[in-house]
Amino acid sequence: MGYTKTSRPRIFSGIKPTGHLTLGNYLGAVRRWVREDQHRADALFCVVDLHALTVEHDPARVRRLTRQAATLLLASGLDPALCTVFVQSQVDEHARLSYLMECTATDGELRRMIQYKEKAAREGARGGSVRLSLLTYPALMAADILAYGTDEVPVGDDQTQHVELTRDLAQRFNQRYGPVFTVPRATHPEVAARVMDLRDPVSKMGKSHAETAGIVYLLDEADAVRRKFIRAVTDSGSEVRYDRMEQPGVANLLDVLASCTGGKPEVLAEEYASYGALKLAAAEAVVEVLRPIRARHAELCADPSYVDGVLRAGAERARGLARPRVDAAYAAVGLLPPA
Ligand code: TYM
Repeated sequence: MGYTKTSRPRIFSGIKPTGHLTLGNYLGAVRRWVREDQHRADALFCVVDLHALTVEHDPARVRRLTRQAATLLLASGLDPALCTVFVQSQVDEHARLSYLMECTATDGELRRMIQYKEKAAREGARGGSVRLSLLTYPALMAADILAYGTDEVPVGDDQTQHVELTRDLAQRFNQRYGPVFTVPRATHPEVAARVMDLRDPVSKMGKSHAETAGIVYLLDEADAVRRKFIRAVTDSGSEVRYDRMEQPGVANLLDVLASCTGGKPEVLAEEYASYGALKLAAAEAVVEVLRPIRARHAELCADPSYVDGVLRAGAERARGLARPRVDAAYAAVGLLPPA
């Protein structure tokens, strides 16, 4: 068949251009793509711009953020010689397969997605309307993953439920129509799979949040990073302990520090006598992690044709990989072959 696999695992993951990339995106996902995934697997990384249209959006901003996300992925160290970097809307197969996923998923299943419930509630509270695509989003995400015969999906914790649904859809489709899809599994980093907002450590650090004081962006200048850490909300008490339930603010700082320096949060906790010292250490560790990314980003911005070229080649390869499997899925459900 046209879509048989090589011996290396296939990895797919994506990032949504709804805001500037955050430290959460980096520590929860991108850093592992760079350090591990692109070296050991046939890996594809995608700026999933269609997903950015599920909420109220400004076309010029989405275009700008899509480019910026792609540039930041390269600046973070994704190497087009090792992996495939591309933009979702430039490969038609995602939208094509998404429809078949909508025909596989049920309405109840999609309404149970936590992110849908949270975002729809937020939108409702603002008096706004909810786009239908916000509900069907996980069908498109399943299509992103399944089109490539993906084995592993490296993501932060918040995407677990979506990947579980993708597994269910793959299995259901295969049972009904024949073995077209590989059943993928999510993988998570050991620490920092859920980086929390520095000002509100019981909420995830999210790029589309309106309140930005507790969010560290990859392109923040060193002083801005330091300021945000110094103002981080910690907990009552003064002893530095790693306790996610009782001391979420301190635990978050320890997670970030551990993730940046390679230590273990429980062990690092013993090295700091005060919250202040811990905040300073976490800030400096993050500044050092971001420094080379910012520098490389500035270089790449000076050469947009390079980034365009990478995305063009990436889309071409992705198209070639996805097409045969999506064609097979179309045939399996009873649609006529391409005319
Ligand atoms: P997105 O754009 O919200 O986030 C991109 C990646 O960053 C991770 N992440 C975090 N990790 C730790 N702490 C945080 N605070 C944090 N915030 C974000 C996310 O878990 C994710 O891995 N639905 C996806 C995009 C997507 C996708 C896909 C991912 C679309 N199709 C197919 C994988 C495979 C999303 O909204 O990610």
